[in-house]
Amino acid sequence: MNGTFISFEGIDGAGKSTHIDSLAQSFRAQGRVVTLTREPGGTPLAEQLRQMVLNDPMDAMTEALLVFAARRDHIRQVIAPALARGEVVLCDRFTDATFAYQGAGRGFDWQTLSVLESWVQANPDQSGRLVQPDLTLWFDLPASIAAQRLAGARVPDKFESQPQAFFEKVANGYALRLAADTERFARIDANQTPAAVWSDVEQAVRSKGFL
Ligand code: TMP
Repeated sequence: MNGTFISFEGIDGAGKSTHIDSLAQSFRAQGRVVTLTREPGGTPLAEQLRQMVLNDPMDAMTEALLVFAARRDHIRQVIAPALARGEVVLCDRFTDATFAYQGAGRGFDWQTLSVLESWVQANPDQSGRLVQPDLTLWFDLPASIAAQRLAGARVPDKFESQPQAFFEKVANGYALRLAADTERFARIDANQTPAAVWSDVEQAVRSKGFL
């Protein structure tokens, strides 16, 4: 796999979406082919699973199994083939979200999530390496500010309607994932103007030599 895989993470309301589009434009301006995708989702099957995960009540284990099932299909149908073609894959959320939301947020066992991660992300190229982002941009924003930004924005889904305390736990989950893999992560201070956030995003991607 010789493409470039970048994931975007953060609690709901952290404001990552516009920066994903801007980064896609930057890569395209350099002649790279970009696959813009998201999780849960990115294939017809995974988008169906997304609707269930975001709307239907279920326990944390069911959520975890469904997001990993969606991820498996997404990797095999979209992510791994695009990376094998040398493309840039920009993914709005990936496995760190499962650790943050189902693990830290909902209290599902972290160790079991690690086992699922190792199964689902086993590399189709048999290299023994997991399919993991080369860079994960974590948009870090205090849960209280994210709540203000989300208020009245649109009809909230199952996660967006969780109380602030839930998002504090989710943010702690992201911090734990960063601590476990500081090489892969870049923490972006999302409590700034959009221009300042974008400048930090560009800087993080440049410092990896990707832009
Ligand atoms: P989005 O609104 O950023 O597209 O994300 C969809 C929601 O799904 C968001 O609230 C986070 C949640 N989610 C999980 O709970 N577990 C996961 O593994 C992923 C990828 C997302």
